Amino acid sequence: MDKSEVNPIMACRGFPAFPVVLVAVSDGKGNSNVVTIALVHMFSFNPPVMGIGVSPARYTYELLEAAEDFSINVPSKDLVEEVLYCGQRSGREVNKFEECGLEPRQGKRIRSPVIEECPVNLECVKCQRVDAGDHVWYLGEVVHAEMAKGVDRERALMYWAGEFRVVGDVIRRR
Ligand SMILES: Cc1cc2nc3c(=O)[nH]c(=O)nc-3n(C[C@H](O)[C@H](O)[C@H](O)COP(=O)(O)O)c2cc1C
Repeated sequence: MDKSEVNPIMACRGFPAFPVVLVAVSDGKGNSNVVTIALVHMFSFNPPVMGIGVSPARYTYELLEAAEDFSINVPSKDLVEEVLYCGQRSGREVNKFEECGLEPRQGKRIRSPVIEECPVNLECVKCQRVDAGDHVWYLGEVVHAEMAKGVDRERALMYWAGEFRVVGDVIRRR
């Protein structure tokens, strides 16, 4: 394989794509915000711990610093326009729930809402904060989760380098 050195900052371009999710956080005063996040990963299976990477420039960062919890909502490909919108506009200026027609539903075990239109809703209670560089990672234990019946993972949305994709074919089972 013929390889050349690349700038480590650009090395992340070697990743194919990341799942992209909608994160909702309460402002503690009766309102909440929704934001698009591609830096998302599972950090532990048992207990289930998910992490999200958020830049301190985001309004969501301010909310997360004060909040005890957040929800991770997995959109299907039909929500691509809403996902893009929530990743381009700030909750400092607009109510993204209203502008996108997304319904915030009260979480069962957390103060932050979940997003009704997303087939998977994970209610997370903050358990660790990791200052990783230009993004802060908030790890949250999943204390309640809901999944639509017959959820189709092939319709899940991925994103990287300016391109939204869906998950591809199953090519092998282990
Ligand atoms: C596809 C996509 C993925 C994104 N992923 C992240 C991310 O992982 N972390 C982050 O801090 N911002 C991410 N952003 C940028 C924020 O979603 C964007 O700056 C948003 O407007 C911030 O909203 P807020 O100010 O209401 O928090 C992403 C944007 C898009 C379009």
